Amino acid sequence: MCGIVGYAGEGSAKAMIVSGLRSLEYRGYDSSGIAIVKRGRLTVRKESGKLKALEARITDPDFDGPVGIGHTRWATHGAPTRENAHPHVSADGRIAIVHNGIIENYMDIKAELIRDHGVEFVSETDSEVIAHLIRLYFEDDLVLAVRKAADRLHGSYALAVVCADDPDRIVAIRRNAAPLIAAHCEEGGLIASDIPALLPYTRDVYIVEDGELAIVTKQGVELYDEDGTRMKRTRTHIDWDIAAAEKVGYDHFMQKEIYEQPAAIRETLARRLSKDGRILLDDLGLTKEELGQTDRIYIVACGTAYHAGLLGKTMIERYAKIPVEVDRSSEFRYREPLITDQTLVICISQSGETTDTLEALRDAKRRGARVLSVVNVVGSSIARASDHVFYTWAGPEIAVASTKAYTTQLVSLYLIALYMGLMCKTTTKDEAAVLIEGLRGTPALIQEVLDGQDKIVELAKQHYKKEKIFFAGRGMDVATAEEASLKLKEITYINSFAIAAGELKHGTIALITKDVFFFALATQTKLYDKMLSNVKEMKARQAQVVALCKVSDPRLSEAADDAAFIPDCSDEIAPVVAIVFFQLFAYHVARLRGREIDQPRNLAKSVTVE
Ligand code: AGP
Repeated sequence: MCGIVGYAGEGSAKAMIVSGLRSLEYRGYDSSGIAIVKRGRLTVRKESGKLKALEARITDPDFDGPVGIGHTRWATHGAPTRENAHPHVSADGRIAIVHNGIIENYMDIKAELIRDHGVEFVSETDSEVIAHLIRLYFEDDLVLAVRKAADRLHGSYALAVVCADDPDRIVAIRRNAAPLIAAHCEEGGLIASDIPALLPYTRDVYIVEDGELAIVTKQGVELYDEDGTRMKRTRTHIDWDIAAAEKVGYDHFMQKEIYEQPAAIRETLARRLSKDGRILLDDLGLTKEELGQTDRIYIVACGTAYHAGLLGKTMIERYAKIPVEVDRSSEFRYREPLITDQTLVICISQSGETTDTLEALRDAKRRGARVLSVVNVVGSSIARASDHVFYTWAGPEIAVASTKAYTTQLVSLYLIALYMGLMCKTTTKDEAAVLIEGLRGTPALIQEVLDGQDKIVELAKQHYKKEKIFFAGRGMDVATAEEASLKLKEITYINSFAIAAGELKHGTIALITKDVFFFALATQTKLYDKMLSNVKEMKARQAQVVALCKVSDPRLSEAADDAAFIPDCSDEIAPVVAIVFFQLFAYHVARLRGREIDQPRNLAKSVTVE
């Protein structure tokens, strides 16, 4: 959620930290701060708002040194003010911490620190207790003090700590979820909450595992387990390029990532399909026997990944004939799902760090389920906690609004469904070949949508001032409507609704007036006539209706006020193509409304709090 960067070396900690924070700003961006240690002195600067605001406050060369930590915040406890920004500092100004995560028992610790030690708090955050606690335990060994403090903290966190009395090193610790990566390069030692911050310096990083403590100095990185035993760790090589995490000529990351979808899907397919059309998933360990015994599958995910799960359900049930339920991760473990050792849980996550999904996964494993995850970020917490991983290979997704992760998740789930179907003999080779050919065609179809954007821009210009937009469809179009609506509301802040069109008459139709802009999704051939009735119902209530149809089947366009088209494809492939139309629609509306497209208000890319 928040971004952490730390540097210990001989160069300019300020420059290293600012560059790292810039690449992590997508994780959280309502305030930021830096602490520098130089010749036994600790100096902290913080600012509310975007990183630019902090940068303007730290231009003086005096504010620099060889060791430091920095943070971009996404507020959970306390408003995004300068006081609540990190780093937080002990009352004597000798220890500074940056924190990503949530300290669940901070109220108790805070009360104790005030009552027994007279500590005066200056922020409303949960994180400030950490600085005071470490100070309380510090005698002459920062590592020991951090350990003692960490033992008192409940919740999930990644912490980085510097101390004016132990000035050459950063001590970092990770517990329950919040990610942490360390590295050593020519310039010195580095620590960060995500890979892009380290990529300009090295591609070989240490993943700090749950419960581990890292000591970062200019000489290198040391990792210790919970008992204080030094760990040997091979470095993970990052094979994607820094250019992949930069805008390279696009105005926004979201725009770039929308355009990257044909290549991302090609890459995902190339890793899992042989030239002769065999699905290469044997490494997932899903044996025929296991699948034969699988009583049910739960797909568990949040947000966009959840919408991918809805389509995953349709495809797995259709091809593998195994019952599938789709759950929102935040609900899953609180509803006591019926899990046995014959249950397969599929977790879907772009970041692989979403706390709700990670905790649902852990809960499912405790109850005996096997877990397969569909994840984009290699080596992420969800990937490591799963029994089997299917990587989506979309490359780094920086914009908060997920785009290429979604379409690669769809393609991945389609392949998983087919693989299961072939294993269970509920799908024939010929049926599989048809869908595989369809999937192989998706990059070209998406390219057609990207190339034919004029109509989308025209619709955006006509409707960007609307305050109520509906997306409705049937069958596989329902998930597309949900995802289209989420994209629009995330980056434009328009009040948008998604609905299974058949449900309109059960209540929501009461909202339909002449001010409503209504997208009727009509890519599902056998449900065309039903959608036609829905369009007529909307027109009878004077809504302005635009139909999205396949170019080969424009019937609905006649009943609507206007129509837009996606290239011809099968009903199953349509969701992969149609969503690109809506991603672009949301993008252009957001541009016209002058929104912060890559960093919409109140949102963060990776949600590592519950
Ligand atoms: C999508 O545009 C979102 N920003 C959000 O819904 C996201 O999909 C969700 O938080 C899940 O994230 P994950 O895929 O990294 O687990």
